[in-house]
Amino acid sequence: MRHSTIRQLEVFEAIARLKSFTRAAEELCLTQPTVSMQIKKLTDEVGLPLFEQIGKKIYLTDAGKELYQTCHGIFEHFSRFEMAVSDMKGLKSGKLRLAVVTTAKYFTPRLLGMFCRKYPNIDVMLKVANREHLLERLVNNQDDLYIVGQVPDNIDAVAEVFLGNPLVVLAAADHPLADEKQISIDRICQEPFIMREPGSGTRMAIKQFFSRHKQILKVRMELGSNEAIKQAIVGGLGIAALSRHTLTLDAPMGQFAILDVQGFPIDRHWYFAYPSGKQLSIVARTFLEYLRNASELLEDIPCRHATTGYCPLIKCGTA
Ligand code: PGA
Repeated sequence: MRHSTIRQLEVFEAIARLKSFTRAAEELCLTQPTVSMQIKKLTDEVGLPLFEQIGKKIYLTDAGKELYQTCHGIFEHFSRFEMAVSDMKGLKSGKLRLAVVTTAKYFTPRLLGMFCRKYPNIDVMLKVANREHLLERLVNNQDDLYIVGQVPDNIDAVAEVFLGNPLVVLAAADHPLADEKQISIDRICQEPFIMREPGSGTRMAIKQFFSRHKQILKVRMELGSNEAIKQAIVGGLGIAALSRHTLTLDAPMGQFAILDVQGFPIDRHWYFAYPSGKQLSIVARTFLEYLRNASELLEDIPCRHATTGYCPLIKCGTA
């Protein structure tokens, strides 16, 4: 193994993570023959196959799984070393692998924009996935930091709340309920409802809310993204409950009304999280510090609200 190069390990790590030689070659800007050659050399060094192909899919062998774990340790040590050195030089540089839940993508890029302006030498890799997939990544320690709704008790993680995430009931701006006050939950259950896909945190919170009130929603369709749901609302297919953050960019367009429904908004929050015991890199710690002030950094965004005409990004503790 002493003759294996860091490059070979990088190639191996990318294939194992992306489960594809082609995608790994693309990510690393290498040709496929180069990738295959690097893996052949590495396999010869190890003396055991690292991958096996079943049908069109590739899987890690037991030796491959061991090496994958080892790679993570090696790369983490390297990036910590690089950052420690740049810290000594007075620079903040390195890589931040950030994974955020689908709905957090509405504000994360803005936060990152401000962060990257402050630390131009930090490269950020952003992964977006729904709650179920994100928690899976957290359990498998695949990224540096996670932005997610409340982490369940059965996952051993450090989690800290940093921003409010109210769920509101949205309808098309010209919906007959748009100007009504204190709409009952019962009345909402008569409307065709558009729901997020299984595995979504928004869906989980809505289901918990309505089952707590012993009410059953009339779900007309399930869609896998907030944007698709918003299109369906504007298209008159029904109403939905989504994070108020999903309205950020549509704010000036006034296509939506936030209905004044009893018990709403559902009071959710955003947490940053990482597996317990994880040694955070200097960059991750810098970002975490920055997130702690995030609610101060996000500006209020106006949009049409049925009662107030205004839709601020709710700050933690005031949601
Ligand atoms: P989601 O999660 O984007 O998977 O719906 C959001 C949340 O947990 O509030």
